[in-house]
Amino acid sequence: MLHGIPLNNYLYGPSLQIPIKQLRNAHGEYKYRWNYLSKAISIDYFLTTYILLFFIGKDHEVPRALEVNEIQEIAQDFVKAAKRAIEAGFDGVELHGANGLLIDQFLNTSSNKRTDIYGEPIENRTRFAREVVDAVSAAIGEERTAIRLSPWSSANGMQDQTPYATWGYLTEQLQTTHPKLAYLHFVEPRDDMIPKSDAEERLQLSLDPFRSIWKGPFISAGGYTTDPKLAKQVADQTGNLIAFGRTYIANPDLVQRLKNQWPLTKYNRDLFYTSGPEGYIDYKTYTADAKYVRA
Ligand SMILES: Cc1cc2nc3c(=O)[nH]c(=O)nc-3n(C[C@H](O)[C@H](O)[C@H](O)COP(=O)(O)O)c2cc1C
Repeated sequence: MLHGIPLNNYLYGPSLQIPIKQLRNAHGEYKYRWNYLSKAISIDYFLTTYILLFFIGKDHEVPRALEVNEIQEIAQDFVKAAKRAIEAGFDGVELHGANGLLIDQFLNTSSNKRTDIYGEPIENRTRFAREVVDAVSAAIGEERTAIRLSPWSSANGMQDQTPYATWGYLTEQLQTTHPKLAYLHFVEPRDDMIPKSDAEERLQLSLDPFRSIWKGPFISAGGYTTDPKLAKQVADQTGNLIAFGRTYIANPDLVQRLKNQWPLTKYNRDLFYTSGPEGYIDYKTYTADAKYVRA
């Protein structure tokens, strides 16, 4: 608990994302381990990876599908990490099941090409997510466990042919088997970080079906940064908690600013995903230095 705010730790698990900087800094010694893929991945992702590695010129392992016993070991890795987080003083953990990370790779039809008990149909594609939730909540308690999900995220090559059915089934299962989870955290389809070409279509989509299945705390994220008034409207209408991404990075005192209707500092996109402190811990609070504020 920090200043009355519960501290939660994202549990990423093994990721498909390529640590480009590590590859560049590796002096030929570092080999990115690929064996955590949910399945031989979609061809466009595979080609992109090869092109990238061709230019960087480093050796790498060829992606392969996880064996079933390895999948179960990885679920146990989530458990180990969750236990350590609790031992270290975190109030709970949020399993990262969104944006193309491992759990999400199992969920999406674009990445999950398995033919075993982790492949089609939906009951199987959602199996890994459900097993990780089962295992982690058994280890640290349901009320300390949460999960982040993104039915429409195209990050890291994700796409699903039946988002309502896939995440609807998962939400129903979580409601039945783990109704006391700390919360479910869903990324909005309107997230305005998605390509403009898709934005109009995604505005027709909605998290409402999932909101109506899940009876516990529900967090909505994505796009509220650019429309804080909408955040209040959605919170009032749905009772949801609202998560802010970009605006929170740029406004360490975001809660006070929203409460007091103080102007918000604009985030600096050029500093996103950089490795130094600049752009992450050097934004000022409103009261500390009012002249720093750009409305
Ligand atoms: C610098 C930066 C890093 C992010 N890292 C992650 C991440 O690791 N995993 C994730 O699911 N989302 C990540 N996000 C997305 C945010 O969690 C959030 O969903 C997104 O910014 C949309 O919310 P917003 O409109 O309030 O910014 C990141 C966003 C930014 C700006």
